[in-house]
Amino acid sequence: MLTKRRNDMSEEKNYLLLLKQLQALVKDEPDPIANLSNSAALLNQFMDRINWVGFYLLKNSQLVLGPFQGLPACTRLEVGKGVCGTAVQENKTQRVADVHKFPEHIACDVASRSEIVIPLRKNNQIVGVLDIDSPELDRFNELDQIYLEKFCEQLMNDLPSIF
Ligand code: SME
Repeated sequence: MLTKRRNDMSEEKNYLLLLKQLQALVKDEPDPIANLSNSAALLNQFMDRINWVGFYLLKNSQLVLGPFQGLPACTRLEVGKGVCGTAVQENKTQRVADVHKFPEHIACDVASRSEIVIPLRKNNQIVGVLDIDSPELDRFNELDQIYLEKFCEQLMNDLPSIF
């Protein structure tokens, strides 16, 4: 138990460092695509045991592929379908321990076994999602969810001109 708590604390410290790095990375650059690209690269460097990380942006009621790191992926996703579409429809983070058990999961990379999708909100409206896949079952815990939600909130605050 003590070991677990220590691990949680160091994970939390790492996440706080990540949020600082994000701030430094985007603060002087107004271009949204440049900032989303660097954010995906930062997460890819920071997180272990993941095989895809990137953004889908809501355009004309569809989620369209944005900056990412990983294998080429589906370019358009329907709202209400798959993990990303469900996050938008329910306006809620989806943390999926086993994607094979998620109805209508859309497999862009067959290696993916668990996934987390966080809505991106600007002025209380969903404008897209952050999607992260892992080849490991149940890769994302509650701490990941809390800090990845903070990551998205901070990123959207720093991207005034995007949408
Ligand atoms: N698995 C996602 C599709 C996007 S890829 O994972 C990059 C979904 O079910 O919405």
